[in-house]
Amino acid sequence: MAEASQGGKTGQSLSGQVATTSGQAAVAALPAVDSPQDYERLYRHSTCEGEAFWAEQARCIDWLRPFEQVKNVSYATEDLHIRWYEDGLLNVCVNCVDRHLATRRDKTAILWQGDAPADTRSISYGELHTQVCRLANGLQAQGIDSGDRVVIYMPMVPEAVFAMLACARIGAVHSVVFGGFSANALADRIIDCGAKMVITADAGVRGGKSIPLKANVDAALARAGTECVDAVLVLERSGADIAWQAGRDIWYHELVARQADRHSAAGVGAEHPLFVLYTSGSTGKPKGLQHCSGGYLVYAAATFRYVFDYREDDVYWCTADIGWITGHSYVVYGPLANGATTVMFEGVPNYPDLGRFGQIIDRYRVSLFYTAPTAVRTLMSDADAALAGSGRDSLRLLACAGEPINPGVWRWYSDAFGNGRCPVIDTWWQTETGGVMIAPLPKATALKPGSATRPFFGIEPQLVDANSDILTGAADGHLVILDAWPGQARTIWGDHQRFIDTYFSTHPGMYFTGDGARRDADGDYWITGRVDDVLNVSGHRLGTAEIESATVSHPAVAEAAVVGFPHPIKGEAIYIYATPVAGIEANTELTAELCAWVRKELGPVATPDRVQWTPGLPKTRSGKIMRRILRKIAADDFASLGDTSTLAEPGVVEELIAGRLNRA
Ligand code: WT7
Repeated sequence: MAEASQGGKTGQSLSGQVATTSGQAAVAALPAVDSPQDYERLYRHSTCEGEAFWAEQARCIDWLRPFEQVKNVSYATEDLHIRWYEDGLLNVCVNCVDRHLATRRDKTAILWQGDAPADTRSISYGELHTQVCRLANGLQAQGIDSGDRVVIYMPMVPEAVFAMLACARIGAVHSVVFGGFSANALADRIIDCGAKMVITADAGVRGGKSIPLKANVDAALARAGTECVDAVLVLERSGADIAWQAGRDIWYHELVARQADRHSAAGVGAEHPLFVLYTSGSTGKPKGLQHCSGGYLVYAAATFRYVFDYREDDVYWCTADIGWITGHSYVVYGPLANGATTVMFEGVPNYPDLGRFGQIIDRYRVSLFYTAPTAVRTLMSDADAALAGSGRDSLRLLACAGEPINPGVWRWYSDAFGNGRCPVIDTWWQTETGGVMIAPLPKATALKPGSATRPFFGIEPQLVDANSDILTGAADGHLVILDAWPGQARTIWGDHQRFIDTYFSTHPGMYFTGDGARRDADGDYWITGRVDDVLNVSGHRLGTAEIESATVSHPAVAEAAVVGFPHPIKGEAIYIYATPVAGIEANTELTAELCAWVRKELGPVATPDRVQWTPGLPKTRSGKIMRRILRKIAADDFASLGDTSTLAEPGVVEELIAGRLNRA
């Protein structure tokens, strides 16, 4: 294994490898993308000479051993593999931290804003290096090795980033679990990835409320058993009272206090897993998407640079939690690989008041701002309050991701929040894609409110029909991607067959996104939403199958079906149709109990919005639940229910309509 710089000076290369500034020089040498012509030219190059393009992008990061083979991919279901730069050796953490020390030691890496407005921290690249080295030493002292899995269940505090980078530094595979997930959901993830350690905090603080993270870890481990996890590292964040298990629990501050602030980082192969991140699908339990080190970093870094038109003096803020892919790629890896200043926010948009986002933008002079449409809709719900107390004149770009943004919301974001001076960059992508796939480039793409517009370099989207035939020109269909890109997830942790079945079998030879889309006459893409049973609640992805399974695990529920319905702030909300067990009377108490139950099973992100009790569900004669009908009734749009003649008991529909909970 090659040794990386120990955080020394520029050009110092311990084993005669690449100088630490080579990647920065490569960035400076890239052609500018300042016009539609520039975009067309580079896009053509990126697809016609894909390997050359991706080799140029990969030289923007520092390799301990340069790669020779750029791409080795097969989308054939019998031999599916995706590998990029596979003979190259690198260290992701060194790329995000050490290599900036020569030129950016005193530059702010993380600008942290706590839940309470007075709570702030500023962490320079030099300080980041020290903190990450200490923790990397601490993890190794605890016996964490390259390839071991570490679950990170933390609030949005700098130590969560230290933890991700320390794992990357020693080759451990992190799996960040969003703090809004329950103990049960956490246990499932710990078991599935076989974590050796959990890093958490005593409690999180959000919107003035305490989130019992350590208690959830205790409960999760009581369920998961201790055969895999032998240590819990606990950050003191809130001072909350917590239970302590001697021999297992370790205080974060005590562990790092004992460590040296230098750490010699070894390189890993480009395909070495960097992290596993769980997301919901249409069936079964959440799946752990496995992302690699080299290709992922190249992709996160390149998309960050182009999509946000990043410049050295920008102050960049992405509001996503690090528990989601957006937090991984655009709070942590993309910005830090570019030596950017990344703002990290612990709180919520409406605490202490709805003006919070604007106030933080003014305080830090944020120039690039990235959030989710659901947050914009929250601000719009009381626009005066949202805009009060801030001018937001430091902004030069606004971006969004996670769900469709309707044109009215897009315009308010642009005109009111951005004072009409900023492009709005609507970015379409997924946990599986690692980084942005379809988005306008600020100086090179004509913007259209509601459209994610054009593919990023090297990305070949297409629309197909139910027979997998490619549709040309203006069309509406399933969104697929024809060929691989470096940031693509490599597999599902522990279940490669599920990876193949989920993404490469519906439309053989192509990556199937699970989304539908429309392409207009100009060739711009409009994402129309999931075509499978996946909901998007406040930008959070939830499978109807997992909500159903949590619902029927309640002893009073015999059967259940879950659908989404349109919601003004959340985008989509959860509607449960449940049949009570014979002899049980469904009443408002039972409804409240069931909501609390589901919330406890899955976490606050999955709190049901409606529970309609029903003696029966609409099923075909073969027993398949007709969700199409349930979706229409939930949306209070039952005039055209379509063909119901195949139902086993057509009378059920009348009853469901009569008892519907959403009424205009
Ligand atoms: C699903 C992926 C953006 C990464 C974070 C979410 C939906 C995402 C958009 C957009 C319309 C979008 C899709 C996608 N989605 N971005 N700009 N416009 N829909 O990642 O949790 O894996 O969710 O979010 O349905 O499949 P995720």
